[in-house]
Amino acid sequence: MCNKGRNVTFRAFATAALAFGAMSACDHLAPAGGSQRVDAEYGKALYDTKCAACHGADAEGGGPASLGLGVVPPGLTLLSKNNDGVFPRDQVMSVIDGYFRKDHYNDPMPVFGEEDLGPIVRVEEGDFSTPVPADLLALANYLESVQVD
Ligand code: HEC
Repeated sequence: MCNKGRNVTFRAFATAALAFGAMSACDHLAPAGGSQRVDAEYGKALYDTKCAACHGADAEGGGPASLGLGVVPPGLTLLSKNNDGVFPRDQVMSVIDGYFRKDHYNDPMPVFGEEDLGPIVRVEEGDFSTPVPADLLALANYLESVQVD
């Protein structure tokens, strides 16, 4: 799903990204230049490896590793719907990274911020430029692409 509100910023990304020969199909946040992948397709590959066992192959929850976990890993396709139709990107990245959960160390979900989440890319949004690990951005882009109304 494309977020029209980011079109102005996105055009700048698109120009820079095309110049470097790397472009994703939609206006997901992408770093200005460089060849590091952050697109949803790459995010899905990461998801399949790191997340599907718990959150399900289709991100609808209850993957095979849920059994005996104590807490059933929730489906991840209603995050936007449950947030007034807006994908809660920052919160999602915080949960994956573990930052958001640092007070809850008994949480069964691994703290992915402790492993390698790829090189840091800069995300330009409005007047802000935020450093984000590429794999974290790709995972968020993938999850944004599987949101349902
Ligand atoms: C060992 C099982 C396990 C793995 C692997 C796992 N999770 Fe989770 N995840 C959970 C559980 C359990 C919860 C619910 C409890 C909580 O909030 O931590 C959760 C919660 C979440 C939430 C918050 C959902 C909400 O409704 O707010 C997100 C987003 C999420 N996981 C994304 C991921 C992503 C992306 C990956 C892979 C990089 C991943 N998880 C890997 C078990 C797992």
